[in-house]
Amino acid sequence: MASEDRTPDKPFESLRQDRVEDVPSIRPQALLEFIGQDALKDKLSIFIRASRSRGEQLDHTLFYGPPGLGKTTLAGIISREMGGNLRVTSGPSLERAGDLAAILSNVQPNDVLFIDEIHRMSANVEEILYPAMEDFCLSIVVGKGPLARSIRLQLPKFTLIGATTRLGLLTSPLRSRFGIVEQLHLYAPDELTRIVLRGAEVMSAVITDDAAGEIGLRARGTPRVALRLLRRVRDVAQVREMSAIELPLAKSALDMLGVDPEGLDEQDRKFLTALLELFDGGPVGLSTLAAALNEDTQTIEDIYEPYLIQKGLLERTPRGRRATRKTYEYMGRPPSIQFRQLSLLDDDGDI
Ligand SMILES: Nc1ncnc2c1ncn2[C@@H]1O[C@H](COP(=O)(O)OP(=O)(O)OP(=O)(O)O)[C@@H](O)[C@H]1O
Ligand SMILES: [Mg+2]
Repeated sequence: MASEDRTPDKPFESLRQDRVEDVPSIRPQALLEFIGQDALKDKLSIFIRASRSRGEQLDHTLFYGPPGLGKTTLAGIISREMGGNLRVTSGPSLERAGDLAAILSNVQPNDVLFIDEIHRMSANVEEILYPAMEDFCLSIVVGKGPLARSIRLQLPKFTLIGATTRLGLLTSPLRSRFGIVEQLHLYAPDELTRIVLRGAEVMSAVITDDAAGEIGLRARGTPRVALRLLRRVRDVAQVREMSAIELPLAKSALDMLGVDPEGLDEQDRKFLTALLELFDGGPVGLSTLAAALNEDTQTIEDIYEPYLIQKGLLERTPRGRRATRKTYEYMGRPPSIQFRQLSLLDDDGDI
């Protein structure tokens, strides 16, 4: 909570790290400012209060969920509430064990070390992390061949916060070393509306409640998308010399951006068109679909699918991805013969 009682940050020239505080405060700075994810916030505030009152660091925490839902933001909030510094790095940027060792050897008591995309860390980097997480010690090998020797350094107590869009790709030894593992869910339209209103305030933009509601509705359940749409709608308002963002302007700007009232954009429609036209509504395997769309499977799983599934426009079955009745209605097409046959089989309980 109190940023006043933070210890001053020391410069780390040799490390590639950002401090979240340096980013303009469109990011909520305290748990109370963080909108939505209520169950998660309740739990976190208990864990934070308990560890603070014991004078201990928070247990290592893992956040997982689709991109743009607030994992990095939460890491910043936790470090602030715990009164430590935030060190930010990411799995892919930690190529060699030495990269992580350099970061760990600079950690101060109560610091939060945030590793984004932690599932993309290499195995030899992960090995360094295990004893650091469990026993707060760093084992490094110095020298080569017969002269090589291992040095153990005791580290101050810190909290590791890992973020991943793919919980399934984490190795189980790594996953089991986190005391708190929490999922972030897509946001409800009214929560996104509040995020847009707050964002507009930070950006000093004037927006009506219903215009914010329209952006919230079309933001794919994702705060990052909501704030991006707000910025683009504000651009349109500015060019049209409107002093406030009102509903008709918001609607026309969002239509112009290709975001429809269901919150789907051109990419989503391309995805659904491919599913219906090339694969008769499925079921089709993820990699086949990815190849047809010229996308990688991770983008499909992380970006397209969570929202389409939430909207009931896509179904994930053991045999592959499938259109639903709602997909055909949304795309304004009659269900394919294959879809109708499979649905009949489904009703009979044969699948
Ligand atoms: N609950 C929230 N309330 C207000 N703003 C939010 C909230 N969650 C996220 N944001 C805003 O949305 C943007 C994206 O959040 P953030 O960078 O934390 O997402 P992320 O989960 O770390 O995404 P990625 O997986 O892509 O790294 C930020 O600008 C942040 O300020
Ligand atoms: Mg992030």
